[in-house]
Amino acid sequence: MRLTILGGGGFRVPLVYGALLGDRAEGRVSHVTLYDEDRARLTAMARVLADQAAAAAPAAAAPVAPAQAGPVPVAPAPVVAVTTDLDEALRGADFVFSAVRVGGLEGRAADERVALAEGVLGQETVGAGGIAYGLRTVPVAREIARAVARVAPEAWVINFTNPAGLVTEAMAEVLGDRVIGICDSPVGLGRRVARLLGARPQDAWIDYVGLNHLGWLRGLHIGGRDRLPDLLADTAALESFAEGRLFGADWLRSLGAIPNEYLHYYYFNRDTVRAYTQAEQTRGAFLRDQQRGFYAEAGRPGLPAGAALAAWDRTRAEREATYMAENREAASAGERDDSDLESGGYEKVALALMRAIARDERTTLILNVRNRSTLSVLDADAVIEVPCLVDANGAHPVAVDPLPLHAAGLVTSVKAVEREVLAAAASGSRADAVKAFALHPLVDSVAVARRLLDAYAAQHPGLAYLR
Ligand code: G6P
Ligand code: MN
Repeated sequence: MRLTILGGGGFRVPLVYGALLGDRAEGRVSHVTLYDEDRARLTAMARVLADQAAAAAPAAAAPVAPAQAGPVPVAPAPVVAVTTDLDEALRGADFVFSAVRVGGLEGRAADERVALAEGVLGQETVGAGGIAYGLRTVPVAREIARAVARVAPEAWVINFTNPAGLVTEAMAEVLGDRVIGICDSPVGLGRRVARLLGARPQDAWIDYVGLNHLGWLRGLHIGGRDRLPDLLADTAALESFAEGRLFGADWLRSLGAIPNEYLHYYYFNRDTVRAYTQAEQTRGAFLRDQQRGFYAEAGRPGLPAGAALAAWDRTRAEREATYMAENREAASAGERDDSDLESGGYEKVALALMRAIARDERTTLILNVRNRSTLSVLDADAVIEVPCLVDANGAHPVAVDPLPLHAAGLVTSVKAVEREVLAAAASGSRADAVKAFALHPLVDSVAVARRLLDAYAAQHPGLAYLR
């Protein structure tokens, strides 16, 4: 099976490759093609992947001698190819992972800076920052979708590109249900709550729904009984895990649900804006500097074997440890738990999804798919985040209880904003783009929206299409 990764020079590619190396089952991925515009990043990534293959199983990485006798045919590591040609990358692909970052981390830092200068949030997926990022990503996502439809119409596309819900919806205009968006935050939340309740995540039914980075866990059923009320009644347990510390036991009890961690930006907006304003560096600026160092090191000529992987490991650990640091600071939530620092979210969802489709192994995963009739407050084509049954026919959202009024309000407001972003990206109309900013619940004035668009347009060449 052939997997193509768009944004193949991206920092999180080794997470995916690591998961592939651990997959020994029949029909596993045998070939990985990394596509990126930036050759230097591809070279650095290819080195990390080669180190991973060598470290995983020395026998697995070695070429298998054809005449080799004996009963242990070791699975060879997936072969890695790199290219800067999109059509070449897509040709023959069974699965395409799309994980691109239009404008790079420099762009992410600019998104944050411009928003904070107006006193609003610049996070890459939430509020003004998410809109700016969406405005420059949607045209590229649509182009990628058209290329897939032309060159690899049978391929399944798994979208990781943020803002993941919006970008998946843009690609679904072209690819329909053959594009599925993924995010690890609902999975992480479900895992944490299940463990607290003494269950294995795979044995729990997780009642979660919303948009990407805007969803709520409303129940967690074990043995046919919803155990979330037990957790909500237990203050010590509530304050022992990431979302509990972020939101506080009282607020969770008021909601009667556990929100996705990204809702901290909504429920504690003023506090998070203040924390990000006071921070020495924004998240994007921190990651930009950190990754500049990593790619320089991993790309250095004459690097000894293993050094690129060691540099990547170090960099990843630091990235994980500092994830949402300002939110945690605003909430006095302390450090992250060790169990949240290990990877295993994002790449595991992607691999599980790919296996379920490729091998027709039916499973349930929380994914970003078209609504159909799941949430009655949204139309059928709106991409939502919801538990889905997955098999060789793709991902099918399951029926869920309706959202309570306040959640339905947020979801419909933010979906309306996403629709304005999609419209602006199609029409090139500045008025549509202003409307997107102005309608967002975290942007409090049309005047601010106009200034945001002007400032973003001045920063980003990728917004030159807006007239
Ligand atoms: C979570 C989110 C992702 C995000 C990732 C990394 O997993 O769900 O959407 O890409 O964190 O965040 P960072 O701030 O490290 O780029
Ligand atoms: Mn995410």
